Amino acid sequence: MWFVRFVTSSIGKKLVMAATGLLLFLFLLTHAAGNATIFMSSAVFQDYADELHSHPLIVLVFSSALLAVLLVHIGVGLYLFYENRAVSNNRYVVSKRVVKNSLASATMPYTGLFVLLFLVIHIFGFTFSPKDVPISSTVRDMLSNFFYALFYITAFIALTFHLSHGLWSMLQTFGVNHPRYELFIARLSLVLPLFFFLIFGGIAFYFMTGLGANY
Ligand code: HEM
Repeated sequence: MWFVRFVTSSIGKKLVMAATGLLLFLFLLTHAAGNATIFMSSAVFQDYADELHSHPLIVLVFSSALLAVLLVHIGVGLYLFYENRAVSNNRYVVSKRVVKNSLASATMPYTGLFVLLFLVIHIFGFTFSPKDVPISSTVRDMLSNFFYALFYITAFIALTFHLSHGLWSMLQTFGVNHPRYELFIARLSLVLPLFFFLIFGGIAFYFMTGLGANY
């Protein structure tokens, strides 16, 4: 079938990575905006979470779609990783790297898998938390644990690296790569991930250090 042929072609796989990456990025934007209400007060954050959960069907459809997108992103990403490794292990093939071998690009599968480990722990801790405890209290109680918060911050550093190369690569795949905008694209691929780091990392820091004691 043409669709399977397209998706398994080299450009098809890159497009799937870029499109699923973009959707995950959009999820992060909404998640960061919602979670930033924590800095206002526990009541504002709780209101936001309650409002979200007052639409169970939307939450179910959205969560299922998010999971499907994440699984495709991870599956195709790992496939590309093993494919690239097989090519670079073949000494008869001259491998031409189009991308500068930056630390972020070289560590993509590892930062990605670390973020995946974070996600599993995060979802077990927050999404599947006891329903009789308000989520605003669960977030405060969990992140007040120094080592739990430290793990979160370490995962957010990995996420920052992953996003910085991922965003750059996505823009290249979508053809946003005019030499005139090279510097702008390079800066954007750094500033946006750092913005996420400030919000998510800021929340973990807020509770870990006791700054959020009166939240
Ligand atoms: C300190 C930073 C973060 C806080 C406080 C936070 C908070 C939460 C909370 C409270 C939930 C459960 C929502 C609910 O069911 O009521 C949740 C779910 C989730 N979070 Fe986070 N989060 C943070 C960072 C992240 C990051 C960085 C990612 C992605 C890399 C992420 C991905 C998710 C996902 C995928 C879900 C499940 C969404 C769903 O059920 O549809 N979170 N988060």
